Amino acid sequence: MNTDQFLVKSQLESIDSASFTWQTPSNIALVKYWGKSNPQIPKNASISFTLNNCHTITTIDFIRKEKSKNVTFKMFFEGEQKDEFKPKIAEFFKRVQRYCPYIFDYEMTINSENSFPHSSGIASSASGLSAIAMCLMSLEKELSSEISTEFMDKKASFLARLGSGSASRSIQGPLVVWGKHLEIEGSSDLFGVQFPYKVHSVFENYQDVILLVDKGEKQVSSTLGHNLMIDHPYAENRFKQANENLGKMSKILQEGDMKNFINLVESEALTLHAMMMTSDPYFILMKPNTLEIINKIWEYRQENKSNICFTLDAGANVHVLFPENEKEAIHQFIKQELSLYCDNNQYISDRVGLGAKILSN
Ligand code: PMV
Repeated sequence: MNTDQFLVKSQLESIDSASFTWQTPSNIALVKYWGKSNPQIPKNASISFTLNNCHTITTIDFIRKEKSKNVTFKMFFEGEQKDEFKPKIAEFFKRVQRYCPYIFDYEMTINSENSFPHSSGIASSASGLSAIAMCLMSLEKELSSEISTEFMDKKASFLARLGSGSASRSIQGPLVVWGKHLEIEGSSDLFGVQFPYKVHSVFENYQDVILLVDKGEKQVSSTLGHNLMIDHPYAENRFKQANENLGKMSKILQEGDMKNFINLVESEALTLHAMMMTSDPYFILMKPNTLEIINKIWEYRQENKSNICFTLDAGANVHVLFPENEKEAIHQFIKQELSLYCDNNQYISDRVGLGAKILSN
């Protein structure tokens, strides 16, 4: 695999200080990534919708310092210094230092905030790490004027991936594939690419309402979760199935085949959870209310001939997906019925969005 393309080869300019602010989205996978090998190479290709309202905004201030052997930074989250967030970010800097040698030249102050509540059970690593990656790429662009926007996005996705696999899918939108797949032109294990084919209009402005069933800390960290796929009795079949599912999903998205979209998305969600239930150690990440909601969605779909469906992340929250033309009716249904199964009746209305945005530089 050609990672050399991401090394800095040109002579870098020297600047004393810089500051960049990026907004990067969260994403929700339709075909899931679960299982990886080192360094952050997925066992199967995945595809996700980029979200519009769930995002992270991060500013990094760079002040030039004497070059040292250490990467130095301060971390603030929603206005407060958060040293407990530093180890994960320090590990990220360690993984990217080969590709971003300029991080040794600056004292960095990172200020970050999420549009969604921190303890909502919504994973913030995808949007969090992609935002840091975009800020690094903005600095790289200042230091080396040869960089195109296309390369910037590609390398940002490559860097973000080294922090959290799904973060590689949080640079562009509205549909991003990560992982080499024969039927997806340009796809790579190293970075996410925008789905390269024309998508049917039913998926335009697709809606996602996130039902907050359990706002607690993740029961299974991603690292532990992916490791559960090592020596998992069903692992090889799962990776094969996911790759086949991505081929199917590609056709479904192009043809606007709603029935098969629903089948595939729900099956992927349940398979992800089935992997966790059948691993050693095993976990049940759904809560009773997750199942109540799933059953309600199935009833509603049947009774209203609706195209509503659900997907799940590695937790108890439910993402309710539906086309824009059903927005009004389904928002009513969510408000009146599904919200009763949410923690404090809380949910977040979102829709598919377009990817990273620079807010200031
Ligand atoms: O990016 P990670 O290492 O946090 O893994 C995320 C895995 C899932 O969210 C469960 C599935 C996916 O493809 O996003």
